[in-house]
This record gives sequence, C-alpha cells and structure tokens, in this order.
Amino acid sequence: MSEQPVLVFDSGIGGLSVLREARVIMPGRRFVYVADDAGFPYGAWEEGALNDRIVGLFGGLIERFNPALALIACNTASTIVMPALRATFPALPFVGTVPAIKPAAERTKSGLVSVLATPGTVKRQYTRDLIRDYADKVHVRLVGSENLAALAETYMRKGFVDEAAVKTEIDPCFVERDGRQTDIVVLACTHFPFLVNRMRKMAPWPVDWIDPAEAIARRALAIVETLPGGDALPDARDRVVFTSGNPDYSAQRLMHGFGLTVV
Ligand code: DGL
Repeated sequence: MSEQPVLVFDSGIGGLSVLREARVIMPGRRFVYVADDAGFPYGAWEEGALNDRIVGLFGGLIERFNPALALIACNTASTIVMPALRATFPALPFVGTVPAIKPAAERTKSGLVSVLATPGTVKRQYTRDLIRDYADKVHVRLVGSENLAALAETYMRKGFVDEAAVKTEIDPCFVERDGRQTDIVVLACTHFPFLVNRMRKMAPWPVDWIDPAEAIARRALAIVETLPGGDALPDARDRVVFTSGNPDYSAQRLMHGFGLTVV
C-alpha cells in the first residue's frame, strides 16, 4: 500500500483532460491536481519567468504532497520547464506533454497538418525542433490561439461557449493547397479537448483532432509500474490545489464534479 499520489499540474482546468485518462488506467492510484490559476494564462508568459515560477512552485508541492510522479499536463509549460524540473528534483520522475507532431506527420494523408496551441507553445524552439525532426516531409502550420484556453475555462466552469469566437480561433488551421486540404489538427494545449465538439461543429471541413491525453497517461503508467509502492489506501481522496488559494464557486463546483476535494 502506498499513499504517494500522482501529481497532475496545469495552469488551469486543461490538465483535467489528462487526469480523466490517467484515472482510467491507474484506478488504484490517488491523484493531486494542481491548477496554477494565479499564473493563468501561461500562453502569454515570457519563457524564463515561467520556468522560474514553475520550478519555484514545485519545491513547495513536493514537500507538501510527496508525489510518486509528477505529470506536467500542459504543453506551454512542458516545452520549456522539463530540463529544469528534472535537474532541480532528480529524485522525482516527471512526465511532460508536448505537441503530438510526430503521430500527426505519420498519419496525415494530405500532407497538411496544423498544430493548434497557445502563443507560447508556438514560439518555442522545442516545437520547431519537433517539426524539423519528425515532420520535414509534411507542411505544418502553427496556429497560436490567444483566446481558446480562456474560452475552455469559461465553458468548463459556466457551461457557456461563444461558438463564433471558437470559429475565429480555429479558422487559420484550415489550409487548402494544390487541391489538398488539412486533414489533421493537433490539439497542442490540454485545455482544447474540452472544446473539440464545438470545434468539429464550426470547422469548414472534417479533420482528425489529435488529443494526446491517453498517450501521456500511458507514459505515466509505464513509469509508475516501475516504482515501489502500489495502490492507495482505500479511503484516500483525490485532491485539488489552486495556487490562488481562492477558487470561485464555479471552479469549486467543477472540481467536485471531477471528484476532487479542494485543499
Ligand atoms: N493547458 C495549457 C497547455 O497545454 C496552457 C493554457 C494556458 O495557460 O495558456 O498549453
């Protein structure tokens, strides 16, 4: 028996798209979900400052929760902070989330792929390197969305989504060239899968939307299986921490809906 939880970290509600997959394949584990809502949105942060903020937060989180593994369920953070986290906390295994460019390049039939992400992820050298290494035969359009993460937050907390705004954000993903059309859009922000039905509805033509949550959860499971310890104590609960210390009613209700206790 082990009480060491898996810690899932994001700037807001996006990591819940990864948590739901992780729970399915690690039913015996307990989870601590950390929403850095005081830092949201990460898409607009300067790289060095965001790196320092997250490494600083992890010092306290590790001390408080003693996790078995930390899953950074955020592309915007993972594309910069993984080396610093691993170097600063070498005893803790970290799993990151990076744009699913490789599987998209392998699956596309038209050779036109779009990567929908935050402006931060689009700017990263890490993202450019993924394209160079795995998608050099494919045309990749990078689309940095200013507003989709916030639209997803509003949808999950309040149940409302402005479909015209979703359409404006996704439209640049749809490319036509020499009679071919984009056939894959990579959801490279963990907030976006929550809006995928609206994206499908507002898309000019059908495409495959790649959500990497299951693959990330499987990666975490592969590591957790190698660790000592095992299932959680039967009465242990999954918890959620908001770095603001002050989640509003809608955020608390959402987390209760996910079976998370606010601590
Ligand atoms: N969920 C985050 C990601 O995967 C970013 C959202 C934000 O804070 O802008 O990139």
